[in-house]
Amino acid sequence: MTALTAPLPVDDLAVLRRRGSAKWRMYPGDVLPLPVAEMDFALAPVIADALHAAVDASDTGYSMLGDELGNSFAAFAAGRWSWQLDAGSVVPVTDVGVGAVELLRSLCTPGDAVVINPPVYAPFFHWVAETRTRLVEAPLRQDSSGCWRLDLDVLENAFRQHPAAYILCNPHNPVGRVHDADELRTVVALAHEHEVAIISDEIHAPLVLPGATFTPLLTLPGANEVAVSLVSASKAWNLAGLKCALVVSAPAMRSVVDAMPPDGRWRIGHFGALATVAAFRSGEPWLDLLHQTLDLRRRELASLLSEHLPQVRMQPPEATYLAWLDCRSHGSGDEPRDLFLQRARVALEPGPAFGTPGSGHVRLNFATSAHILSEAVERMGAAVR
Ligand SMILES: Cc1ncc(COP(=O)(O)O)c(C=O)c1O
Repeated sequence: MTALTAPLPVDDLAVLRRRGSAKWRMYPGDVLPLPVAEMDFALAPVIADALHAAVDASDTGYSMLGDELGNSFAAFAAGRWSWQLDAGSVVPVTDVGVGAVELLRSLCTPGDAVVINPPVYAPFFHWVAETRTRLVEAPLRQDSSGCWRLDLDVLENAFRQHPAAYILCNPHNPVGRVHDADELRTVVALAHEHEVAIISDEIHAPLVLPGATFTPLLTLPGANEVAVSLVSASKAWNLAGLKCALVVSAPAMRSVVDAMPPDGRWRIGHFGALATVAAFRSGEPWLDLLHQTLDLRRRELASLLSEHLPQVRMQPPEATYLAWLDCRSHGSGDEPRDLFLQRARVALEPGPAFGTPGSGHVRLNFATSAHILSEAVERMGAAVR
């Protein structure tokens, strides 16, 4: 891993506020925004170079980088996670949300049950609604140390209701859990036993931080026959606006991918595809610096919370730049996000948006500078004093 010479740079607030992206446009100018999963760090130079080169060459037509996408992701997955996959099995899609919705449409008919694990990324609820399937919730459980985990008994009960699909979030947003190989082996065994197809959302996989180990679902025995994975460079290299993600499947599940709309290939952002190839091919040294920066920031966040908000509890996330803050013991009610927005002028994601177990929680995005992070937590602390 590259040594951390300095944390990744972040522009001044005045410059950040000129961005047109959701994080910086959703709230008025006096609010410090730490909600939606975008990062404040300057773009990785290899990606900026790839995009500049495309602009210089007027390379702005429809994207046709299928082979480069498959090859670059296969090489990255082999090097990073020892995941040997066939580059030809990688199919680009507009983004993970579009991929998940189209996979649900391939796997289910309206009215079929789909299992998810709240608290979980809010759009999982929306994808189920959009495909007119039926939600079955198998909530995570908190173990004795407070760590949120898959509840495999609850999951099995949900699978007994004969769902057509299960959307797994690994690593899990918002709790930051990296499910371990034993848990995932059980998930695969349950999927075989109850004939449930798994859509494994692995968008946060490149953001597994020091101390945790990521297991790609499709590397586990038997997973190829029941699961399809969704991956992307968009979270780890901050490319969400460029629109490109990848579906990975083995021959046994290829018919599900083949049933997605054939016109999908025309709906990929070419800048997204170019940036994705650059990220997977040459973006690892920058990614290592990002991990070290996020590792530092999560430690800074823990110490800021103990100083300014001692009643708020946080399990340091094993992955992502999203911290799941349990505010239940400081008396700010089911929706602490409102109090922090109104009194501290700090924007966070509301816990209940992630499902009922999110009541009394907020999600804080710490992919920012030490300065912005400390100002946000100081303001939050002052607001409840
Ligand atoms: C678990 C998870 N899946 C999907 C997405 C959205 O991905 P995309 O922008 O590629 O649709 C996010 C965004 O934060 C996410 O956290």
